[in-house]
Amino acid sequence: MTMVSQVESPEIGRPPKRIEKLRERVSHHQYRYYVLDDPEISDAEFDTLFRELQTLEEQYPELRDPNSPTVRVGGGVADRFEKVTHQVPVLSLANAFGDEDLHRWRDRLLRLLPEEEHTRLAYVVEPKFDGLTVVLQYEDGQFTLGATRGDGEVGENITPNLRTVHQLPLRIPTSDQNGRRAGAPPRRLIVRGEVYVEESDFHAFNREQASIGERTYANPRNFAAGSLRLLDSGVSAGRPLKLWTYQIFLEEGEDDSPDSHWESLAHLQSYGLPVCRESRRFGDDEWDELISFVGRWHELRSRLPYELDGMVVKVDLLAHQEQLGFTGKDPRWAVAFKTGGEEATTRLTDIGVKVGRTGAVTPNAVLEPVPIGGVTVQAATLHNADYIEELDIRIGDTVLVKRAGDVIPKVVRPIKELRDGAERSWKMPAVCPSCSEPLERSPEEAATYCVNNACPDQLTRKVEHFVSRGALDIVGMGTKQAELFVDEGFVNTLADIYRLPWEKIEGLEGYGEKRIENLRRGVEESKARGATRLLTALGIRFVGSVVAELVMAQFDSIPDLMSAELDTLGEIEGVGPKIAEAIVSYFSVEPNRRLVHKLGDLGVDLTVQGREQDDIEEVQSYAGKTFAITGTLPTLSRAEAKAYIETAGGRVTGSVSSKTDFLLAGEKAGSKLNKAQQLGVSILSEEELLQGTVIQRQESPERGL
Ligand code: IVH
Repeated sequence: MTMVSQVESPEIGRPPKRIEKLRERVSHHQYRYYVLDDPEISDAEFDTLFRELQTLEEQYPELRDPNSPTVRVGGGVADRFEKVTHQVPVLSLANAFGDEDLHRWRDRLLRLLPEEEHTRLAYVVEPKFDGLTVVLQYEDGQFTLGATRGDGEVGENITPNLRTVHQLPLRIPTSDQNGRRAGAPPRRLIVRGEVYVEESDFHAFNREQASIGERTYANPRNFAAGSLRLLDSGVSAGRPLKLWTYQIFLEEGEDDSPDSHWESLAHLQSYGLPVCRESRRFGDDEWDELISFVGRWHELRSRLPYELDGMVVKVDLLAHQEQLGFTGKDPRWAVAFKTGGEEATTRLTDIGVKVGRTGAVTPNAVLEPVPIGGVTVQAATLHNADYIEELDIRIGDTVLVKRAGDVIPKVVRPIKELRDGAERSWKMPAVCPSCSEPLERSPEEAATYCVNNACPDQLTRKVEHFVSRGALDIVGMGTKQAELFVDEGFVNTLADIYRLPWEKIEGLEGYGEKRIENLRRGVEESKARGATRLLTALGIRFVGSVVAELVMAQFDSIPDLMSAELDTLGEIEGVGPKIAEAIVSYFSVEPNRRLVHKLGDLGVDLTVQGREQDDIEEVQSYAGKTFAITGTLPTLSRAEAKAYIETAGGRVTGSVSSKTDFLLAGEKAGSKLNKAQQLGVSILSEEELLQGTVIQRQESPERGL
């Protein structure tokens, strides 16, 4: 983890101090999570703290402490239930964060198992259920005891509550339907399972509770845990608890005992215990397939109605499991595969400001690189000065960063408890970092603007947008060329893109004949993309590719649009009065009108003839994304926003859940905003939605040659 380098930074404290602080924080959060069922931070945040502590403890063995929370098995026994000593220790699992870890895990198996066993080596992959571990005991077919895991050795007797779980058989049928077994059940059977709650049941419950002013739960897992540990089992009975079982601890008096985990699952099923059907078995010769199967666990998660916490890979043969044994509290024969989620914590080392093409000045976080969901993230948006002030984000803070729905990462919040006093507050600069003109704060919005039309950064961003894939798609031109040509003074207005001084470019480093030829072809080809793409390329506020498509469906050319009345534009479905106003006001500015005519003179097609070139995929920029809407939007009505999203391929739902990709939030946002913040759902303003920048930016990485 990159955390290591963070820790060495003098501002954050020397390692001994940091270790002490982390131990205290990790213990505190374990208590909140395991004992109170009321966590204060997300699992990802907790994992990061825990791993950082583990890494530091490995680095500084002299600072080991037998009472460190990394040594103690997580969990604790609350006083209110009778304690039960487990017959077999209920162990936990080591984690693999990515393919590399999985490969290493297999390498170790191959080293430890005798060579002649390698051909028999096989694995079972199953979902890692995100619930509460339970141990169930049956005697002569009767359910006699159910307990929580507790600390792995001593759990809590929650038998009455477990009896209320409908999927839990209270007696084992004498013969089963799958034909594996006919006759008496085993004399004693002890199994391990996971009690969980489906997401929709969780949300319905929380909604109901909120409406009557009662306690709500942070996530389905805590809901399941809290419900199982209610002292009044009558209340548990009203909770929608479900169960999966996945391990046999003990099976006495069964002649046909299983040889493999796969067979154990069949046994569990034959006892009427619920077994998840998503498990798969792989031979060692199918290792690549296994890797690809676990790598797709996010797909599985989105298909299933309950939360997954990753996948578990287990060595199938029980004989192999026995040979492999344990290290400390983790079996060597099983591993939990997780892909770091979409969140991580890292250190914010600086805050920079960027001038956008509309002149909006946005603060950005400079981060210590951190892997999130398979990508290394080193920058994230901070939206605007208010966002930073409201969340009290400071330079030097450890921050929670999220990549939700695969959009540009954002800083969710600082982790204040890790501050050591060396953090510095930040203020929006008074002048533009690019042209040094004074910045202006818009009175109606949170945004700050550079209002200098000649600002080089603004122009660079305009060019960058103009040439981008969703706009005029000039192959060979990207951020680098935009910066270079503006810097060199070759481009002073967008029209200059069509009269580049090729003879001067030839003299630039890295611009050989071939490259120039490609670039010239790219510029030439872009002239024929048509009016819709050109309208997008102009970068008018609120006018992204979807609005451009809606608008140009009503006009024959850009000059035709230039003479349109405000009312005519406002009547177009999906185009509210504010968008109409933005378009009209753009074309009322003389230099903008001149630009369009100039482009026409230079051979750029201003008509919609080019429509057939429009890339449907670009228009469907929100394809497959789920939205919720809250508050009053600045320009669109709810119905308009919904129509807009649907035209762009998205879906609008009435409530926010973990499946929501974006919350479109306006003024006086309601409880959905809190919920979205809690769940870490990306929050969009209307402007961000209309510009489609969130998606476009991600889909159009730098395409310079
Ligand atoms: S196997 C010794 N399989 O995850 C064998 N555990 O992080 C270890 N869990 O508390 C357990 N789904 O209760 C196994 N399919 C699954 C699981 C699973 C969820 C839980 C388990 C444990 C935690 C470990």
